[in-house]
Amino acid sequence: MPDKVRVAVVGARRGATHVAALQAHPNAEVVAVCDRDTALAAATAARNGVARTLAEFEDALNFADVDAVVLATADYDHAKQALAALDAGKHVMTEIPMATEIEDCHKLVTAVRRTGKHLEMAQQVRWAPYVLAAKALVDDGEFGDLFYCEGEYFHNVECYLLGPKGERTWRAENPYAGILGGGPHPYDTLRWLTGVEFTEVHAYSNKPEHGLNRVADDFFVALFKAPGRSGCVAKVAVSSGLARPYCLYLSLYGTDATWERNRQQEPGSQESNDYLFLRKIPNLRQMMPVPTFRTRYHSFSGRDAELPPEVARAFGTQGHGAHDAMPAADFVAAILEDRPPIIDVKEGARTCAGLRAALESCRTGQTIQIPQF
Ligand SMILES: NC(=O)c1ccc[n+]([C@@H]2O[C@H](COP(=O)([O-])OP(=O)(O)OC[C@H]3O[C@@H](n4cnc5c(N)ncnc54)[C@H](O)[C@@H]3O)[C@@H](O)[C@H]2O)c1
Repeated sequence: MPDKVRVAVVGARRGATHVAALQAHPNAEVVAVCDRDTALAAATAARNGVARTLAEFEDALNFADVDAVVLATADYDHAKQALAALDAGKHVMTEIPMATEIEDCHKLVTAVRRTGKHLEMAQQVRWAPYVLAAKALVDDGEFGDLFYCEGEYFHNVECYLLGPKGERTWRAENPYAGILGGGPHPYDTLRWLTGVEFTEVHAYSNKPEHGLNRVADDFFVALFKAPGRSGCVAKVAVSSGLARPYCLYLSLYGTDATWERNRQQEPGSQESNDYLFLRKIPNLRQMMPVPTFRTRYHSFSGRDAELPPEVARAFGTQGHGAHDAMPAADFVAAILEDRPPIIDVKEGARTCAGLRAALESCRTGQTIQIPQF
């Protein structure tokens, strides 16, 4: 392996974020931008100094100078493309969700074991500064026993359902949309924050009469439960057709502390004044506002995330903020150090299987046991 990981990025819309992050990274090089929309591939490549463009995903597997592929294609294509890439000897980073069927989660876990290649699911919210701050409190034992947590991904996606010529996009036809499309942000983040493995789920969904013109329901709410009387409960809600700006709400409830995000959030970065209550502080009668994170990449605990300075500089003000670049940075480090990525194939499988089970609960009206990985 050379000292630079050579990457082909497939899908040049969301994928453009990963192209920029990898090109700014001292140990990575994007050797191809691949998109069926060849004009888009060419524009993304030119903007980021990438020499080669390709039209189809399969083309990226034929080049010996491609060590890894990034998949930013339709949700339901990730698993089969990841399997093909692993079998072609490439490392893989997939956008969320890694897979939309539980069977594909099992296949991917097996393929990673068989090929010895690395797979990361790019769920960047784990690296959001407000999440790192909360995680530091959890790791320091400030919460006591965590018994309840909440996550909401509220994002009106109406503008993504029709393409430039008025054609219906894959999002309009995607039966997994909503709970598997947006659900990884809150559910994966809560799983990681709490360290809890949820084993069963009961969920409901609905579709208002004047809701979105797409095949999936518009609103989902799922209750996940860990085993035993003291097992933690998580509520995850995903809404795609609502009347409010984007919001990623999270909360943690423990026997010694409570953390609640603010639903009034900065567009793009989702920064806000969050709220904290610590039982150990005497005479505290209100939730304490937690300082805002204007200096990205400093959590209030003083623990910094590890992002090469070049990437941090390039990403400070883009997209969701610098945390958009973190999965790509971790993916590169995992390949070079030959260690599992932070959101490795099993972590991706745990998140996707829980959400797929929630979708099954909506369909059947039953509580569903979540396969464990
Ligand atoms: N993590 C996040 O915050 C975040 C944000 C946006 C999108 N996403 C995810 O990223 C993925 C892509 O989303 P998007 O909004 O960019 O979708 P999009 O439809 O706007 O873009 C996908 C692009 O991939 C290309 N493409 C699809 N299949 C291809 C193939 N086989 N070969 C070559 N090119 C192909 C299409 O031509 C298109 O340009 C989705 O899974 C989505 O859920 C994640």
